[in-house]
Amino acid sequence: MAETLNSSETGGGRKFECAARRFLYIWEGPIRIIHWVNFFCIIILSFTGWYIHDPFITSTQHPYIMGNMRYVHYLTGVVFAVSFLARSYWLLNGEYYASWRMFPNPFDKKDRHTFWTFIRYYTFLSKDAPHILGHNPVAVVAYIGLYALFAFQILSGFALWSQADPGGSLYAATGWLFAIIGNQWVRWFHLLVMFLIGGFFINHLYSVVLFDFKSKSGEVSSIFSGWKPDRRD
Ligand code: HEM
Repeated sequence: MAETLNSSETGGGRKFECAARRFLYIWEGPIRIIHWVNFFCIIILSFTGWYIHDPFITSTQHPYIMGNMRYVHYLTGVVFAVSFLARSYWLLNGEYYASWRMFPNPFDKKDRHTFWTFIRYYTFLSKDAPHILGHNPVAVVAYIGLYALFAFQILSGFALWSQADPGGSLYAATGWLFAIIGNQWVRWFHLLVMFLIGGFFINHLYSVVLFDFKSKSGEVSSIFSGWKPDRRD
């Protein structure tokens, strides 16, 4: 596969003989759709949520802006919850790269070694960016944390919503949260988690672009096409 190219074929620039022997279909359609649904939901929920927290637009001509923002926030919250459930289904029943079978095993020596190799890379202690298909083990741990934050946002969001009808079934399902933390704290944590998700988002963009360049693993295009080069030795 990797033929030597002459300088006119490489445009006179640096040569890189791609070690990819083949391309593999890693991210199935539903996984890519869920990814992008989550992306748009997070943008809309953060924008409308921030408006609910701090109504930065006021207009006497459109006095119902807050009502519309809350409506969009709740509706998007429902879409986000469905997307979360769909991803949970694929975690349990999806193919290998999207499922829990990809999780690193803390009792496995090789898995622990790979995990620390990536930690060293992320913390600038090593220049080796190992190529891995699917998620690397540090990313898997980060995604587990991210999904815990999503679960909290969904639970706290529905609990806050349920207060409109304390006799209703939504309150019966989620109102127990207020027995653990008072409703003003739930609001505060719901706001705080928005910033934690925002922090993840910035790091996520940095990491995918970094790995795309360094390990030439097609990270960015794979979330559009589903395909990744197989560069394993
Ligand atoms: C990425 C996910 C989410 C983010 C970033 C987010 C963000 C926010 C923020 C910043 C607030 C204002 C908090 C405050 O009072 O200071 C808020 C309020 C609220 N959110 Fe979310 N939210 C998310 C998901 C959800 C979900 C899934 C629901 C469920 C429907 C939801 C329902 C609510 C409700 C009911 C309120 C209170 C609205 C009010 O006081 O009128 N949120 N959200």
